[in-house]
Amino acid sequence: MRKFGLIGFPLGHSFSKRFFEEKFKSEHIENCSYDLFPIENLSDFENILDKNPELCGLNVTIPHKIGIMYYLDKVETAAKEIDAVNCIKIINESAIESYFSGEFKPHKVRLEGYNTDAYGFEASLKPLLKKHHSKALVLGSGGASRAVIYVLEKLGIDFKIVSRRKTRKQITYAEVSPELIKEYTIIINTSPVGMSPNSEAYPDIPYEFITDRHLLYDLVYNPAETAFMKLGKQQGAQTKNGEEMLHLQAERSWEIWNND
Ligand SMILES: NC(=O)c1ccc[n+]([C@@H]2O[C@H](COP(=O)([O-])OP(=O)(O)OC[C@H]3O[C@@H](n4cnc5c(N)ncnc54)[C@H](OP(=O)(O)O)[C@@H]3O)[C@@H](O)[C@H]2O)c1
Repeated sequence: MRKFGLIGFPLGHSFSKRFFEEKFKSEHIENCSYDLFPIENLSDFENILDKNPELCGLNVTIPHKIGIMYYLDKVETAAKEIDAVNCIKIINESAIESYFSGEFKPHKVRLEGYNTDAYGFEASLKPLLKKHHSKALVLGSGGASRAVIYVLEKLGIDFKIVSRRKTRKQITYAEVSPELIKEYTIIINTSPVGMSPNSEAYPDIPYEFITDRHLLYDLVYNPAETAFMKLGKQQGAQTKNGEEMLHLQAERSWEIWNND
């Protein structure tokens, strides 16, 4: 049996568990399971590895995407730059014979960390980009925002971060002027505002200045059409939710666990 799973806390309804169990079934992938490992404290991580020697890969979610890096043997450059790991490849190395006792240490693993959110965002954004999409407003400055910014930098798209707090590098929602909306034709919501059950809520920007030249990308995927997207659509903007990104990041994890 090859085991996969998700660590984080709390782990309520998990998209990943449903996704991988359906994948195993529909693609006739045998001898694989995907389990949830709800751990509040990362000091329990090594315990999970010891108790589950068949583990080949893990996804990582809130609140461990940063702290988990301490436990890894290698972190890929992109994940280092984003400062978050959401996928771990577990490589079982052959048992090691103790030089002194001659005993075999049975379970030696090498842990590699990756960030597949950035891959999912980039692959889902690129097909939507038009020539005039050269500047982006990024709403929110949390973990998802960092993966988005990494991709924007990679694609050469200029950006401003909009936050509830003003800092040297961030502007506030009150500073999002009509001129700024006109100039920044990509608007990406990386905040949880509008997520079910608060689906009536939307980021506080002046939607009346959005036009059909705009692309509004919401990382939220539940509901499928957020209030942010609806308000943009009413102005003629192109809209996108976070579902494809979610699927792509999961598929990329599978590739990393099996091929790379
Ligand atoms: N589609 C996908 O594959 C995917 C992947 C990752 C995340 N997501 C979604 O992206 C969203 C953010 O995830 P995350 O992990 O980055 O979460 P997070 O770190 O908890 O929050 C993101 C940022 O949103 C802003 N924010 C939080 N509450 C707010 C509020 N009430 N009003 C206005 N702004 C608020 C904050 O930025 P400021 O303090 O700067 O305002 C916060 O740092 C979630 O809905 C998550 O489900 C989707």
